[in-house]
Amino acid sequence: MNSKNVTILGIESSCDDTSAAVIRDGLLLSNVIASQSVHQEYGGVVPELASRAHQQNIVPVVDAAIKRAGIDRNDLDAVAFTRGPGLLGSLLVGTSFAKGMSLGLRIPIIEVNHLHGHVLSHFVREAEDDRVPDFPYLTLLISGGNSQLVLVNNYNDMTIIGQTIDDAAGEAFDKCAKVMGLPYPGGPHIDRLAAEGNPKRFKFAKPRIPGLDYSFSGLKTSFLYTLRDNIKTDPDFIQRNLADLAASLQKTIIDILLDKLDKAVKQTHVKTVAIGGGVSANSGVRKAVEEYCRDHNLTAFIPKRSFTTDNAAMIAMAGYFKYLDREFCPYEAAPYARVTM
Ligand code: KG4
Repeated sequence: MNSKNVTILGIESSCDDTSAAVIRDGLLLSNVIASQSVHQEYGGVVPELASRAHQQNIVPVVDAAIKRAGIDRNDLDAVAFTRGPGLLGSLLVGTSFAKGMSLGLRIPIIEVNHLHGHVLSHFVREAEDDRVPDFPYLTLLISGGNSQLVLVNNYNDMTIIGQTIDDAAGEAFDKCAKVMGLPYPGGPHIDRLAAEGNPKRFKFAKPRIPGLDYSFSGLKTSFLYTLRDNIKTDPDFIQRNLADLAASLQKTIIDILLDKLDKAVKQTHVKTVAIGGGVSANSGVRKAVEEYCRDHNLTAFIPKRSFTTDNAAMIAMAGYFKYLDREFCPYEAAPYARVTM
């Protein structure tokens, strides 16, 4: 079918960011994100508070996305929404809103798997000449809930070839940060502190898992034991060594990620590597993947930081590809909390 002038509204509400975006033929017209600060004092996302905040945010966020795009809502061809995985109460807000809009405007709805959204985020163009990946490519998808190696053969054909068997990379950052008394989420704090520290100062356990799967729970335990053993003789051990601990932890996580990435590249013979998800905002991860790709003559796709967090631009993008395949979804479609690809 003719793919010109297809305008998609994307809605993302899977966790604690309410976001709406408008994409026309793959070009981003707007991307509005309302983040929720209410969870900070609880040290993690509180599901009930998240869904209430989504309810408050969804109307102004969608309204702003349409206005900033400079379009009328009647210009929309379809509404794409995150159906899962995520927090059910949060997903319900975006899903219900998408259905309501679709009924009101008499346009189809398109369900999007949040993880597909992250993988396809590299196709969102902010300018006509922005480059996009060639198929097949490999995505290292690293967030608070996932650590996966995904082989992307096409927009609608992707296979998980490796994934964590326990904690996600983001959990390793967050849980280790928490035992050091850093605020939630700890990943960005570790990133900041690591810039000042010595990454070779401490050694932590690395997993020996066969194949392409990841594991981060052993690292977490090893980190905890290092703190526990040293605090016995030096009660101020953490404060005194904060930057070195952060740098050494970050380096270990990067080594683990890159080790399996390298295996996956050799196994799949891809020429392009992309990263995505919250942890892809990490300065060390970005630099390491860039260097790895340069050394191995691969093309790297490192997302802008604004596309590493949850955003509706990637949902609208994934929805656009489904629109081209006429893959619409029935109104009975309920959100799902868990899913693989
Ligand atoms: O994709 P995302 O926004 O949502 C979830 O899957 O939850 O990822 C959030 C995760 C958190 O674990 C957070 O600590 C981590 O991404 N993160 C970072 C950085 N920025 C966010 N981890 C390390 N360094 C960062 N700069």
